[in-house]
Amino acid sequence: MVPAQTASPLLRLDDLSKSFGQVVVADGLDLAVGTGETLGIVGPNGAGKTSLFAMISGDLAPDSGRVVLEGVDVTAMAPHRRARAGLGRTYQIPRPFEGMTVFENVLVAATEAAGLRGRAAADAAMEVLERAGLLPVANTRGGALTLLQRKRLEVARGLAAAPKVLLLDEVAGGLTEPEVVELVALVRAVNASGVAIVWIEHVVHALTATVDRLACLAGGRLVADGEPSAVLADPTVRELYLGHAVTVEGDVA
Ligand SMILES: Nc1ncnc2c1ncn2[C@@H]1O[C@H](COP(=O)(O)OP(=O)(O)O)[C@@H](O)[C@H]1O
Ligand SMILES: [Mg+2]
Repeated sequence: MVPAQTASPLLRLDDLSKSFGQVVVADGLDLAVGTGETLGIVGPNGAGKTSLFAMISGDLAPDSGRVVLEGVDVTAMAPHRRARAGLGRTYQIPRPFEGMTVFENVLVAATEAAGLRGRAAADAAMEVLERAGLLPVANTRGGALTLLQRKRLEVARGLAAAPKVLLLDEVAGGLTEPEVVELVALVRAVNASGVAIVWIEHVVHALTATVDRLACLAGGRLVADGEPSAVLADPTVRELYLGHAVTVEGDVA
């Protein structure tokens, strides 16, 4: 989807900095995501990608700088309030409630993140299950799911917040190639419904099949940010990936 050109972007990171002792995960980071935009983020392990999502969602406080959602400074806002303001996220390590059914897992998200109750929460959960292709396993316990189903459930729980922007953290990791194709189709459908996507992923061809824009994070800074093929051809980006066997061929689109 073509990003809307508005004065105030959907999501803006403004001079964001964060260190864990000597480890710098964000170093004066600036980033803007427009309504309906799709942004992919790559970067070496330990670059701070997951920490970046944690600062956007409110799970981690930055040392300085601001997180701005639709022009509102949410830097000090609690995670559940940010979720209600339009931020949905998945976690790199899927963590469903293993003893609850898939339906119940999504119901919890619809209740907590979207603030829905009773019938409205149940209806929202069912709609999200359908969108995420999880209706056939709605009554299966979270602990009994395949990896692809767990990844779908992560996306579904993020969607239950009725987000304006969905943050995806390595949801394609560990999947087989046909499963990656299925997941890419799901993410594209979510974006087609108007939700902006920010997707951290090592499976680069899943990103290039999905995103309009790619950024590379290293040392707490964006070393490249722009059109995906240009970013992947960037010498600094290629250098960072030497030895990481990143495959950019074989588009799944
Ligand atoms: N809560 C934490 N406390 C201390 N160090 C952390 C914490 N979270 C992440 N780190 C460190 O910050 C760096 C970036 O981690 P992370 O954001 O998970 O990177 P990525 O997702 O890019 O692999 C790593 O060196 C990691 O060990
Ligand atoms: Mg990570």
